[in-house]
Amino acid sequence: MQSEIRKRLIEAFTNAGDEYLSGQFLAEIAGCSRTAIWKHIEELRKEGFVFEAVKKKGYKIIQAPENVTADEISFGLKTDFIGRAIHYEEEVDSTQKIAHRLATEGAVEGTVIVAEEQLSGRGRLDRKWHSPKYSGIWMSIILRPNLPMQKAPQLTLVTAVAVVQAIEEVTGLLPQIKWPNDILISGKKVTGILTEMQADADRINAIIVGIGINVNQKQDDFPEEIQQIATSLAAESGQNMSRARLMQAVFARLERLYQTYLKEGFFPIKLLWESYALSIGKEIIARTVTGDIYGKALGITEDGVLNIQQANGEIVQVYSADIFI
Ligand code: BTN
Repeated sequence: MQSEIRKRLIEAFTNAGDEYLSGQFLAEIAGCSRTAIWKHIEELRKEGFVFEAVKKKGYKIIQAPENVTADEISFGLKTDFIGRAIHYEEEVDSTQKIAHRLATEGAVEGTVIVAEEQLSGRGRLDRKWHSPKYSGIWMSIILRPNLPMQKAPQLTLVTAVAVVQAIEEVTGLLPQIKWPNDILISGKKVTGILTEMQADADRINAIIVGIGINVNQKQDDFPEEIQQIATSLAAESGQNMSRARLMQAVFARLERLYQTYLKEGFFPIKLLWESYALSIGKEIIARTVTGDIYGKALGITEDGVLNIQQANGEIVQVYSADIFI
């Protein structure tokens, strides 16, 4: 767990922008001695933060490290609750598993579990999610919306819109969404979202939003079997990205859209989702467990269900499928 003092220091440096902060000021903010401040600054240096220290003025952060430790994610974070509590792990089975445990133990809304590597990353329909060390964003976010459980799938769509907007903001790339929750660039998958729920009676206790973003992999880093269908932001843009900066953008976009959704309902989200959707208006094949459905994808319903119009005019509702265009 991130040190409370370092968290306060980083928040102070984030708010200070280009200003220097004195040791005395930092000690007051963090509620500890100046010697303790000095020790924490040394710890931050070890993590890769570069400080400029000027006599009589104090300290300023001039460079943040290129990893995704809790301190690095907090530096520059502009949200009220998403990402304010961060559990950072080097190696885990799956961040979803840890998030489920923490949610049961009462973790606050917005808690994020992030790992550098997952040994058993999980995808939709029990598929494996390849999560190699240091090259992607593998994280789970705990949300606690006061909603009936049938609304839970809508949060997957809220998240998909937030991730698309964050990728666009940070990289300039223009991703698209393939129903229900794949994010593609140039037709290849760059992000997967897995939303799971804990419910009491018919109310949601917690939603665990798992997000996997391929960030800095080279194309041939992907296992043979997904080489043709997977990509990373670096492979698409030709340059490596700061994973922490992208995570901050995802948190900020998600927090804003989530609040809009809770206040105004699903309609504004549905419009945004459809504006990024790859398949709407197109002829598609929906491969379901009971067989293939051919037709034109019309749009999504309030429940996030896909409407497909078949050649005979009949409209079919699809709840779960793989889509081919
Ligand atoms: C999919 O497209 O099938 C969803 C993939 C979701 C992967 C993320 S990575 C972080 C979190 N932990 C997991 O084990 N899975 C999700």
